[in-house]
Amino acid sequence: MTEWTRHHLYDLEDLSKEEIELILETARSFKEVSTRDVKKVPALRGKTVVMLFFEPSTRTRTSFELAAKRLSADTINFSSSGSALSKGESILDTARNIEAMNVDMIIVRHQSAGVPYILGAGVQASIINAGDGCHAHPTQALLDIFTMKERKGRVQGLKVAIIGDILHSRVARSNIWGLTKLGADVTLCGPTTLIPVGIRNLGVKVTHDLNDVLGTSDVLMLLRLQKERQQDKFLPSIREYARVFGINKEKLKKAKKDVLIMHPGPTNRGVELTADVADGEYSVILEQVTNGVAVRMAVMYLMSGKKTAE
Ligand code: CP
Repeated sequence: MTEWTRHHLYDLEDLSKEEIELILETARSFKEVSTRDVKKVPALRGKTVVMLFFEPSTRTRTSFELAAKRLSADTINFSSSGSALSKGESILDTARNIEAMNVDMIIVRHQSAGVPYILGAGVQASIINAGDGCHAHPTQALLDIFTMKERKGRVQGLKVAIIGDILHSRVARSNIWGLTKLGADVTLCGPTTLIPVGIRNLGVKVTHDLNDVLGTSDVLMLLRLQKERQQDKFLPSIREYARVFGINKEKLKKAKKDVLIMHPGPTNRGVELTADVADGEYSVILEQVTNGVAVRMAVMYLMSGKKTAE
């Protein structure tokens, strides 16, 4: 059996297929905890987890906090606004000062790629990347893959289309690493301006025509247009993007009858998908959110030094 030996989680790029499978298996055993009357196990009793979020978050932050609490850890939410960062203190000094209060894990989200690595090199606590710039969002990819595996019974051989703003998407990048390691057949689909040059080297196919993936994919993973990361004009207009790459009920008629519609959130209804698709029978968007808690419980449990599922 694979043993977990890592102290930090930066991205799925670093993990072996077996390590990813260990997280998924551990998450499967933790999922039941959230359905109990008393949603708690004592696995992380006495541990302290800090959420160090420098970017907005609804799902990831809440889900990490719930996951930590369900493992009986103590949790602290650090808010960058109102902190000593505004007086010129560096991020690393901030993390070191928080760690000096005997913290065991730091969950970090930052607008700059690489910040989790800087913290990991400078503190003793375990660092978990909750999204760094356009680089990586490993726990999002893990919960996406967990959801595919739970729904489809396998990842090997699944045809997964990742559609939209690949260029700015840390979710796409982490999913590409994870899905290809587990043997999925991944195709990226989007406007030429939003597909990074050289991305085929990661073992994926690329198309700019939605019709190439619509009828053959087991999973359509839609990505949000990341307006906050787009300084240049990548698209003629949002309306044009929605017309060509957005998924609506009419286009879904061409999809497989058991297709999964996935989206990491937040969704732009009317842009990457219409409201009736987001809330429709093929959508597993809220299941992804539910599974995020189990996956983050598994990650924190393994990172705490526990090596097998309870
Ligand atoms: N998927 C995701 O990272 O959502 P939040 O930004 O709400 O955390």
